[in-house]
Amino acid sequence: MFFQKKEEAPVIDLENLPKHIAIIMDGNGRWATKRGLPRKAGHKAGAEALERVIEGARELGLQHMTVYAFSTENWKRSEDEVAAIMDLLRQYLKNYFRKFLGDNVRMDVIGDISRLDGDIQEQILEIEEESKHKDGLFVHIALNYGGRDEIRRAVEEMAKKVSEGTLQPSDISEDVISAHLDTKGVPDPELVIRTSGEERISNFLLWQIAYAEFCFTDTLWPDFGKEDLVLAIEGYQNRDRRFGGR
Ligand code: FPP
Repeated sequence: MFFQKKEEAPVIDLENLPKHIAIIMDGNGRWATKRGLPRKAGHKAGAEALERVIEGARELGLQHMTVYAFSTENWKRSEDEVAAIMDLLRQYLKNYFRKFLGDNVRMDVIGDISRLDGDIQEQILEIEEESKHKDGLFVHIALNYGGRDEIRRAVEEMAKKVSEGTLQPSDISEDVISAHLDTKGVPDPELVIRTSGEERISNFLLWQIAYAEFCFTDTLWPDFGKEDLVLAIEGYQNRDRRFGGR
């Protein structure tokens, strides 16, 4: 579904929010180009949008939100752009994300963090540890994340257990596979939002989105806010989800 701002305020049922919303934050570069700014200014504005959306999700009482901050493919961007995103990430891990801990927000990272700089890895482990007892909104940040890479890593881990004799091939159920993914223990996303008019999944949560609803909007990520999140939830709640049944 494509959603657009409208005259009347959206109406949502706060008792029936999707348990997990996943967001592909797209359009930072175009936002900057439209303003004659360098791409990294778009990522900075994108990080500020993320702050606002986390705040909005927390106020709504959402349980899980996963955001695609850096994909396994994003390393192909210019060295300068990758460095700018990594610097933003450093700042957010050190400062801005920390302020959410006081608001009962929990955070973790999905993806293969072993390719990130050592200081970033340390900050990630620290914030995961510091927030692990919070029971409000759980924000999952996808970093050096690719759905195929995640599945490959899960298959490798299961194959290792099979060769060691701790897992039988016939025991590899869908639940066992889910439990070997980075998102283990997290309910599958019920709603996926992608900004900036693109209608692709781009290797995001491939296994987990089997039954998800999709919402696409023309809004560029730096312009996205709580209001847009509420609009997407309204669209989601107006759909009839049947999971293949009647
Ligand atoms: C997509 O826009 C966005 C990214 C690849 C990076 C997402 C990063 C952020 C939202 C900011 C980072 C936040 C933290 C905390 C690290 P694009 O560059 O693909 O935009 P375009 O399609 O218009 O070029």
